[in-house]
Parts: sequence; structure tokens; C-alpha cells
Amino acid sequence: MKRGLLLLLLGLGLLLGIRHMDSRGWIPMDKARLPYLQQVAGDRAIIAWRTSTRFIGVPRIEWQLFGDVADGSQQVHVVEGETVPSRYGEDYLDHHVVLEGLPHRTEIQYRASNGDLSVGRGQFRSAPAVDQDGPLRIWALGDSGTGGPVQYQVRDSMVEFLGDTPLDLMLHVGDMAYSRGRDGEFSARFFRPYRDILSSIACWPAPGNHEMKSSTSVDQAGPYFEAYLLPTAGQCGGVASGTEAYYSFDYGSVHFISLDSSGDAIDPAGPMMKWLEADLSQTDSMWIIAFFHHPPYSLGSHRSNNFQDSEGRLVKMREVAVPILEAGGVDLVLAGHSHIYERSGLIQGVYGYGESVDHPVPATEVLRSDGKIIRWEGERYWTEDGGGTVYAVVGHGGGHVKKTGDHPVMVKSQAVFGSALITIDSDQLQMENVRSDGEVTDRIIIDRSPDLPGK
Ligand SMILES: [Fe+2]
Repeated sequence: MKRGLLLLLLGLGLLLGIRHMDSRGWIPMDKARLPYLQQVAGDRAIIAWRTSTRFIGVPRIEWQLFGDVADGSQQVHVVEGETVPSRYGEDYLDHHVVLEGLPHRTEIQYRASNGDLSVGRGQFRSAPAVDQDGPLRIWALGDSGTGGPVQYQVRDSMVEFLGDTPLDLMLHVGDMAYSRGRDGEFSARFFRPYRDILSSIACWPAPGNHEMKSSTSVDQAGPYFEAYLLPTAGQCGGVASGTEAYYSFDYGSVHFISLDSSGDAIDPAGPMMKWLEADLSQTDSMWIIAFFHHPPYSLGSHRSNNFQDSEGRLVKMREVAVPILEAGGVDLVLAGHSHIYERSGLIQGVYGYGESVDHPVPATEVLRSDGKIIRWEGERYWTEDGGGTVYAVVGHGGGHVKKTGDHPVMVKSQAVFGSALITIDSDQLQMENVRSDGEVTDRIIIDRSPDLPGK
């Protein structure tokens, strides 16, 4: 009888999600964060985690090359890190360890601990060298942070679609912790759903408006800035931004730029745009991908032809940021906020409201301001000069999807749940929309090979 009562109480405790007992000991599961990767780029990686205040030992990562494990040499590297008390998750400690001097594109196994208390194990692949061959795979998603079943379906559909194919990194275009980006919402609606993924790849975020309800860009304070460890000093490549609100990094042949469209910084004379110009002028990467929250072109749950929409942030990103991005040769722009999947052809020079103009789709040539020809055959796009940018809205990761029109620059406009897989291999970039039922509903290839067809 007593045993039955004990089991009942234990079952109730687990059901309520108050505490979870496993080999790591008693870890409260509502706010603890299992080891997750940050800043996997160049020869570095950061492994971070959060524990209760009981885990007071020095944070430590033991890592070894997978090859050493396989051939029995077992050389183990031990690196110690830092602990910072959480300001927003009460009674928790945030730990992180910086790994440097990693060999490129190598499988690495690690074990995280605080003193003698083990907190988790994982495995990841270090970043490639700039000129290293081999495809890179990027999971791009947005507006996922509901904690509801759709968020999990979108996650599972991508995991199933990939099978044994490894991802390199995750881009999140914001709204990852509804409804106010509070500390507990980050834990429950971001770290918990993605914990198995975050233990093996880094998520590179852009702040959404919902995160900025509890965090502020100006002083980089709040749960968003506590959850992420982002490069401010150019340590992952690119020009130092001096802030975690926006930043850039290199990964293999790709230069990535994350912009803050949710703070107060969409100002042509402000520091973010000045930094963006400097950063773009100094990169010589083959591919450039920029991502941020508010889409310059969309007719989904938000409309980019309405200055009243979202304090004019969609319009401002189009008028202020897009000309700089296009002048800097950005190949792909990803955004969210509007809960829909939309994808343009290669376009350039569309900075006005123009949405009422009746362009046939695809109308890519018509929409270019400089008269240069873009050619396409089915899903494949070329430009004569390598110019042009594809814009995609991937705000379909969990929030209610809605379509309010067919935007003239968009070749595809789908009110479906899902996320995007971007595969970059040499001079080709492919993007696929993977719907939450696993179907690929859109696929494009941007081809920068020198052999333009028909020339
Ligand atoms: Fe949003």
C-alpha cells in the first residue's frame, strides 16, 4: 500500500513536470537547460548550460575527437569555463565553456560537468574551413515558440526529412518564446523542444518582437541576451558589431548577418546600418545570407504595404536595410513575423510600396531596376552579373498561418506550417520548404556558376 502511494506521488510529480530524475541527478526540468552549442564557427565552439544553484562546481568540458574514441587513443582535452548567476531565471546558474583551436569539420564528443557532477553529454561537428568542400545544411525557421503541437510537428518533420543527413546550423528569425520572451518561456518553448538538436548544432538567432517584450537591445539585457552567447567582437569572422543585438559570422563559404529589426535601430544614420555597410564591404565569402525578424515583402499575417503594421518596421527594413543588403551582394534574405511561407525570385531594386502594381508571376525581370536580365528554368535562377537577391518569409514555424494576398515579388505564397532547409554546395544554393507533414512544397536553386545558360 505504501509503495503504491509512493509510486502515485512520484508519477504525479513527473506529470507536473516539477522535477525529473535521471543519471544527472535531480535537475528541475522547467528552467534547467541541458548543454547547448553556441558560436560553432572557425576553430571555436561554446558549450553552455543552466543548472540549479546546487551545481556550484567549476564548469568543465571534457572533449575528444570521435576518431580518437574509435581508434582507442582516447586523448581527452579538459577546458574550464565560467559561471554567471541567472538574473532572470531565479535560483539558477548559467555556465559556459569556450573551446578554441578545434580541427575543422571534425566530429567531437563532449561531456559537461560542474565539478564532479555530470550534467550531460553530446556530440557535434566543428565548423569547416573557409575553402573546405562539402555541402552545408542550414535549418531556417521562425515564429515557432508557442510550445504547442505544431511547433513539435514542424521540428519532427524536419528531423524526419533529414534522416541521417547532418545539419550544420540553425537560423531562427525570431519569435521563439511567446508571448513575452520571458525566461521561463525560453526554457519551455525553445530549449525544451529543441534540446536534442541544440546539443549538436548552434542556433544563431535574430530577435523577434515577442522576445523584445522582456529584453532590450540598447543595454543587451533580458532573457534573450542571457540565453544566447553571440559574437560581438568579430570572433567568428565579420566586422565586430560591439553588440549581441546584431552580428555576423563566417561558416565555410557563407557569410551570415543577423540584424535587429525589433529594437530601435532601423535608422539609416544609426550604428547598425553603418556597421552593416562596413561588414558587407569587408566580406569576400562566396555566399551571403542575411536574416532578421520583420520581412520587407509579405502579405501574410502581416503586410509590408502598410506603414501602420508593426510600427512601420517592415517598411523601414525595406527602405533602409534592403538597399544596403542588395548593394552588398546578399544572396538570400530570411525573415519571419508574418506567419506564412513566401519566396521571391531573384529581385533587385524594389524599395517602394509597389504591392498594388499588377505584375504577373514570375515577374522577376520587370521588377529589376537596373535592366539586367535574370533567367530561370523551372526552379533554377541565374543572373548575368551574379546579382539579385531571393527573399523568403519563414514565419510558419508554429503560430497560426494566414495569407492576405499574393505579393507581386513572391513566386510562392503558402499558408502552411513548416520550415526551410538550405543546402549550399560550391556555387549552388538550394532552399526547400518542408511542410509540417514532410512534403516539400517549394524548391529553388540559385546558381552562381560562371556558365550562364544561353550565352
Ligand atoms: Fe513577430
